[in-house]
Amino acid sequence: MAGDRTDREFDLVLFGATGFTGGLTADYLTRHAPPGLRWGLAGRSADKLAATRDRLASLDDAVADLPLLTADATDPAALADVAARARVVATTVGPYLEYGEPLVGACAEAGTDYLDLTGEAEFVNRMYVAHHATAERTGARLVHACGFDSIPHDLGAYFTVRQLPDDVPVTMRGVVRAGGRPSGGTFHTALAAMSRLRQSKEASSARRRVEARPEGRSSRAVQGTPQRDGLLGYWLLPLPTVDPMIVARSGRALAAYGPDFRYSHYAGFESLPWAVGSAVSVGAVGLAAQVGPLRDLLGSRLQPGDGPDERQRSRSWFTVDFVADTGDGTVHTRVSGGDPGYGETSKMLAESALSLAFDDNPETAGQVTTAVAMGDALTERLVAAGIGFEVVPPA
Ligand SMILES: NC(=O)c1ccc[n+]([C@@H]2O[C@H](COP(=O)([O-])OP(=O)(O)OC[C@H]3O[C@@H](n4cnc5c(N)ncnc54)[C@H](OP(=O)(O)O)[C@@H]3O)[C@@H](O)[C@H]2O)c1
Repeated sequence: MAGDRTDREFDLVLFGATGFTGGLTADYLTRHAPPGLRWGLAGRSADKLAATRDRLASLDDAVADLPLLTADATDPAALADVAARARVVATTVGPYLEYGEPLVGACAEAGTDYLDLTGEAEFVNRMYVAHHATAERTGARLVHACGFDSIPHDLGAYFTVRQLPDDVPVTMRGVVRAGGRPSGGTFHTALAAMSRLRQSKEASSARRRVEARPEGRSSRAVQGTPQRDGLLGYWLLPLPTVDPMIVARSGRALAAYGPDFRYSHYAGFESLPWAVGSAVSVGAVGLAAQVGPLRDLLGSRLQPGDGPDERQRSRSWFTVDFVADTGDGTVHTRVSGGDPGYGETSKMLAESALSLAFDDNPETAGQVTTAVAMGDALTERLVAAGIGFEVVPPA
């Protein structure tokens, strides 16, 4: 297994350490890395990396000599060097459709475990077609979407099916509620993804043509409809993020999801006016993203590197409720935490990387979801780090 390549110089390299989310991930590792972790910071600018290391050293002077690796996301030779020296590489360099593929390829070739924070379904599907087979051969685990996209949803659905027998059909809905504001990097990535609906469809079809389906079982993401949720008491709007695709992929790979698993993904609102107002705003941004000059104008409102400050992050929160119906009964669970986009995302990425490096996870390789690669160990880590996973008793 790639995770066993202990002869490599680094257990973990963090690529993009100079950015907003990369910086928070570096902070988290500085504060929570296990003793003896052999890790380094990577990025395109030696000066910015040195400044990041100085900042980290003010939190803990044990990291004052942290190794720095200079590599541009467009330089395959530099990325091959990073991948060959590490057991695990975690990257926050996005938009991933623009910058991500060369590092995925380098890690797949080198048998190096790879993690990212993408929420771009097109990127995940393209990387499957281009690099899954190589990674299966070398033993690399390619784990996309290790932030708020899609860990609470993927591990929450996994936690929920673990409360059920594994021989019954399951219809599940996940309902997300969150408060917080995006960073410049996330905003630019979302705008770019919204402008590529046709390319995203094509990438999904290309993947379907080459990916095997499980025999005798089925797992599907099902597009929901706007509705009032009687059990949760929220108004629901379908949420077309990368999350339902990731959840359905875990369902395809793991027998615990039962013979026929269907998952629908929603945003939940306390009142109808809020639901309607949000649908109109997101629709307007989605339309504007189709027109180049309007997209640029919107993008100029938030610059890469910007993000919510500590006070704003401390007031942010999320919950994801899961309701699973089996025909015989209903199970309701909840995953909850603080600032979804950044505080909790950097925690999730760092803990995922540590899990791949050190936990006793199932033998897997190729493009795998978080539930498949490290479902039990990562859930345990996140609970220990303050993220709630609970079964909600009937009212
Ligand atoms: N899924 C989630 O839940 C979630 C949550 C948060 C963020 N994200 C994603 O994470 C990504 C980063 O977001 P962010 O807000 O942290 O962005 P950011 O602050 O703009 O940081 C981007 C990082 O990428 C680096 N970079 C840009 N071009 C590069 C290149 N050619 N070679 C090497 N490095 C390069 C930047 O380096 P410099 O410092 O040198 O410019 C910086 O370190 C985005 O795609 C965002 O959507 C996802």
